[in-house]
Amino acid sequence: MEYKIPLFNLNFDEREVQAACDTIKSGWVSTGPKNAELEQMFIDMWGVKHAVSMSNCTSALHICCKVCGIGIGDEVLVPSLTFAASVNCIRYVGATPVFCDIVGSNHINIDPNEIEKKITSRTKAIIVVHMAGFPAKMDEIMTIASKYNLKVIEDACHGPLSEYNGKKLGTIGDCAAFSFFSNKNISTGEGGMFITNNEEMAKKARLLRSHGMTTMSYQRASGHATTYDIIELGYNYRMDDIRAAIAIEQLKKLPNDLKKRHLIRMHYLERLNNIKGVVVPFADNKEFVSNYIMPIIITKGDKVYRDAVREKIHAAGIQTSVHYPAIHRFSIYKDFPAELPYTEYVTDHEITLPMYAALTDEQVDFICNTLETVLK
Ligand SMILES: Cc1ncc(COP(=O)(O)O)c(C=O)c1O
Repeated sequence: MEYKIPLFNLNFDEREVQAACDTIKSGWVSTGPKNAELEQMFIDMWGVKHAVSMSNCTSALHICCKVCGIGIGDEVLVPSLTFAASVNCIRYVGATPVFCDIVGSNHINIDPNEIEKKITSRTKAIIVVHMAGFPAKMDEIMTIASKYNLKVIEDACHGPLSEYNGKKLGTIGDCAAFSFFSNKNISTGEGGMFITNNEEMAKKARLLRSHGMTTMSYQRASGHATTYDIIELGYNYRMDDIRAAIAIEQLKKLPNDLKKRHLIRMHYLERLNNIKGVVVPFADNKEFVSNYIMPIIITKGDKVYRDAVREKIHAAGIQTSVHYPAIHRFSIYKDFPAELPYTEYVTDHEITLPMYAALTDEQVDFICNTLETVLK
């Protein structure tokens, strides 16, 4: 079935087509000048010292764990209300994820009190996820991190250009990861970015991205190097220049796209405030944010009721989603038990409504009217 209103839409036009074609015609399609240009745009727009493009956010998160020196025997604090990649990356390096609860329905990010409670002598780092692009409580988290000497990795996948006290998300912790998966604010199909202000981390990330090699093919092809050494056990986490060229066009559009999303969220808030039984997380947020998705919590009933509400909304031609099925409930995490009452409540009551810049006020009204009718 094709939805009348999908969850998201690709903000692509002739500019992305032209950028991809130009790169194909340029004769260089692997990691090269377009990746360098994209990295520089991140450095300029985020006001960060280093940016290293990656094949996706999952690889960027793996690299974050590597450059933070996380390894076997270490514990890493992480929310369960996230996508699997935020947690799997901890296991890629042989460390143990320790799940922390969220603050509650109004603030669905990791709770700093939970972090402090779960710190042990083995704790090495905290992975923070800025859900929907809304900032986690970074002041408290950074204070705890410095008190216990912990690294902070920001999974900023949902929050390109989102801010916290005037700082861009991703620039507050030790390092951060972004995603360019097709449903993200910046879409290239697959792609990602690692950022940091730490030069050593950036150097290591660049090496690990490409097999631990001291030079890249592009440097050799353009006469800047003739040989290479391999000095780290690295990976192939490179992004090609065709995708980087698309990302550049997407990034140019992003500020305007986020302004439109803000207006759409304001319209949603106006309507949802008047619907009984609905809580909108981060409703009191005053920061500039990406509005990657539009999560709501249905206060009535249980998971079965929530799923039935979703079915009825789908029947009206509106796509919804759930962000997220909690990670600690997945089969592969059955050996990592955790008591997370707020996470369990939100994972069973959350519905994600459509959010993208081209959504009209009429469509938002149709979504809210449908929700109101279904809830009655
Ligand atoms: C919070 C979060 N982290 C990580 C990822 C992984 O991103 P990618 O698909 O680029 O590897 C996603 C993707 O949906 C995500 O939502």
